[in-house]
Amino acid sequence: MASLRRLGPDDWASFRDIRLRALAESPDAFASTLAREQAFGEDDWRTRLTGPVYAVADPEPVAVGGLFDADGVFHVWGMWTDPAHRGRGHARRILDALIPADADAVLDVNVNNEGARAAYERYGFVGTGRLEPLREGSEQRVELMVLRR
Ligand SMILES: CC(C)(COP(=O)(O)OP(=O)(O)OC[C@H]1O[C@@H](n2cnc3c(N)ncnc32)[C@H](O)[C@@H]1OP(=O)(O)O)[C@@H](O)C(=O)NCCC(=O)NCCS
Repeated sequence: MASLRRLGPDDWASFRDIRLRALAESPDAFASTLAREQAFGEDDWRTRLTGPVYAVADPEPVAVGGLFDADGVFHVWGMWTDPAHRGRGHARRILDALIPADADAVLDVNVNNEGARAAYERYGFVGTGRLEPLREGSEQRVELMVLRR
């Protein structure tokens, strides 16, 4: 049975592995890029794991996601499930662990990413219509989604 656990700085190597797989497999799902993060050193990876990041491990991580606090707004980032493990509730378990009970949260989803959007809508997020470039100079757009409860 796959287990949910919080990753900390000492998990940096296994987090790096799944994060680089995510960026390679879903290059348009994230603001960051594989090339940028392939250049990260151990300290960069450790720093990323000082905030909440949860993984479903089987026994190595097969799904991952994080949360950061931007001026009091919880922002979900880096959600990715290995394609062979999708549709098993891993993202739902990770979101449950990341977002404090009763708290609101936001995330950005690529307007072309119908699968992720459907998953977030099932979870309770709704689109806001607020669009931004995926990353600087990109013609792709992400939409801000919010979870209100
Ligand atoms: C989006 C993603 C993280 C979902 O991961 P997952 O582990 O397969 O999701 P879950 O199995 O927890 O599904 C959660 C809910 O969404 C639904 N769902 C998941 N994928 C779906 C899809 N493609 N279409 C419709 N509904 C979907 C599930 O049925 C489930 O609903 P339920 O709990 O009411 O039955 C995964 O598809 C993924 O990694 N996509 C590529 C990367 C990406 O787009 N990341 C998001 C960046 S914003």
